[in-house]
Amino acid sequence: MTPSTPAPVLVVGDANIDLILRGDVVPRFGQVEQLIERADAVLGGSGAIVAAGLARLGVPVSLVAVVGDDAFGVMTLEYLRWVGVDTAHVRVVGEPTALSVILSAPGDRAILTLLGALPSLTAVESIAAVADTRPRWVHAASPFLTGSAGWLPELFAAAHDGGAGTSLDTNWDPAEGWAGVAKALAGTDVLLPNRAELLALAGAIVGDPAAGEAAPEDPARALAALGPRVVVKDGAEGGFSLDRHGRAAAARGLLAEVVDTTGAGDSFDAGYLAAIAHGIDTERERLAWAAATGSMSVQAAGGTSGQPSLVELREALRTASPQVHAP
Ligand SMILES: Nc1ncnc2c1ncn2[C@@H]1O[C@H](COP(=O)(O)OP(=O)(O)O)[C@@H](O)[C@H]1O
Ligand SMILES: [Mg+2]
Repeated sequence: MTPSTPAPVLVVGDANIDLILRGDVVPRFGQVEQLIERADAVLGGSGAIVAAGLARLGVPVSLVAVVGDDAFGVMTLEYLRWVGVDTAHVRVVGEPTALSVILSAPGDRAILTLLGALPSLTAVESIAAVADTRPRWVHAASPFLTGSAGWLPELFAAAHDGGAGTSLDTNWDPAEGWAGVAKALAGTDVLLPNRAELLALAGAIVGDPAAGEAAPEDPARALAALGPRVVVKDGAEGGFSLDRHGRAAAARGLLAEVVDTTGAGDSFDAGYLAAIAHGIDTERERLAWAAATGSMSVQAAGGTSGQPSLVELREALRTASPQVHAP
């Protein structure tokens, strides 16, 4: 594989519209009409944002997802096609497209989510898409929103049978039970949690360490022992990873003026997977791609509008290289 022929990726996950509201966004009931500063209706859903980020970074990418036969479904499909994601495996059903309304205040946000069509995603269509698109990598996003947690082992087995690697970004489990992830980890090559998800997943799967005894990388080491390389998104710090042999690496993000952190973790995933698809074989460099892509995404509203092209990412990495940690 050469850098000019990136390997194709299949993303299986959630796709929706994010309606991001900014300004005086704390609602007051009693039919008060509040004026806000800004509203952006943008492509949302972890799966869709990862797919868009990969396409932007020059990686051939197909998305398996379900949207509704409504205006938001049309918008979701149009955004995906516009950024260059293959939508042949995005199914349209007679249910509402998922929607997240994000009340974005400085330093915090509240999110109101309608699952809508997301849980209609099936194992059969996802595995069929693996056979159809013959990817070199299969990434699963948001299993607790799409209902895929129970069939991830089947999906990842199909990926491995076809010679593809596998990755999983669970995102948060609204039920906080994290059911099914333990079984999926044996077939997961790369697990991509953020800090909060790392702690919750490790707590649910391997138990909480005794108070005071835990080092920050202990939960990652515990999950890595079950199979995957654990790649942790660490906010303004960037990211680090550990594999089951104890090999560690880290990279800082770029110094960023934060406009909106929606989808930062998904853009980080896209940067990491794009590095793999482009044949980058050192873990530190993959993390540098990931952290820089995440940092660039926080500089614009929504998950995808700040995502870099390959040229922009390479330029950012070149000028910011002194910030990369030694492994
Ligand atoms: N304040 C920030 N400055 C620079 N980069 C950031 C900042 N916040 C997030 N990022 C980038 O986005 C990535 C993901 O952010 P994080 O908040 O850890 O994940 P998530 O969006 O899943 O909660 C980080 O690893 C980093 O690359
Ligand atoms: Mg996330």
